[in-house]
Amino acid sequence: MPSSPVHDPVRHLLVLGGTTEARRLAAALAEEPGVRVTSSLAGRVAAPRLPAGEVRIGGFGGPEGLARWLREHAVDALIDATHPFAGTISFHAAQAAATAHVPLLALRRPGWVARPGDVWHPVPSLDAAATALPALGSRVFLTTGRMGLAHFAHLTDLWFLVRSVDAPEPPHPPRMTTVLDRGPFTLDGERELLRRHRIDVLVTKDSGAAATAPKLAAAREAGVPVVVVQRPPVPEGVPVADEPGAAVDWVRALLG
Ligand SMILES: NC(=O)c1ccc[n+]([C@@H]2O[C@H](COP(=O)([O-])OP(=O)(O)OC[C@H]3O[C@@H](n4cnc5c(N)ncnc54)[C@H](OP(=O)(O)O)[C@@H]3O)[C@@H](O)[C@H]2O)c1
Repeated sequence: MPSSPVHDPVRHLLVLGGTTEARRLAAALAEEPGVRVTSSLAGRVAAPRLPAGEVRIGGFGGPEGLARWLREHAVDALIDATHPFAGTISFHAAQAAATAHVPLLALRRPGWVARPGDVWHPVPSLDAAATALPALGSRVFLTTGRMGLAHFAHLTDLWFLVRSVDAPEPPHPPRMTTVLDRGPFTLDGERELLRRHRIDVLVTKDSGAAATAPKLAAAREAGVPVVVVQRPPVPEGVPVADEPGAAVDWVRALLG
């Protein structure tokens, strides 16, 4: 008699990571009974902080590659816990999940909200931030990451303090000092950076992260304007959890 296919009772979850929330989620899911979690990292950072559970590193080769990975590794649910500005992978995740018929959740921390005293200039993109800068200041604290520096490379009259995890590569603005560091940052530390470098304008993405929020308080205190790059949208139809606990609840409800 032919045997019927045997289902692996352990459910396999794939977390698209690269964020603090993704590491927290992987740690929480690793404690769940009957669950196996794999985190995927893009491989951008030379020495990434590794999450709990299994880890794979590198791109999938577009949405088709991700759909293939989901099938070949019998993934039961996909959680896109990437950075709010990692727009490409989020759209690939939506396409791949639909193709492979795998349930998808986006984990997105809420964006920052302006407080009294903040002087924020919301812009839709890094290019729009670069366009806005000359009218706002001449000594720029640029915290949007080394991958986007090319958008500011033509601003030869402005001086930039660039903070990134790994050293930036050209093209980048010609007048630039680099601070290699990664959060969490402190209010005292951010105040000191603004003061020491006589910063008169700050550029940030609306990442919403607590670890990088002290720069906003320091800018508020110093009366420094902030150019805030707005987030790309979450793909249509994808449910969103705003913190790792809510994502764990989604997994529990899904897997019963
Ligand atoms: N953008 C930011 O400001 C920012 C800040 C902090 C951390 N991060 C993290 O850094 C990673 C890359 O960000 P990005 O803005 O360059 O992404 P992106 O523009 O959305 O993605 C570009 C390509 O990188 C690959 N990729 C991205 N995230 C991946 C992941 N978690 N696992 C496997 N492959 C991934 C995919 O390659 P294939 O098409 O080959 O699959 C994707 O098409 C993300 O995981 C994100 O969470 C980003």
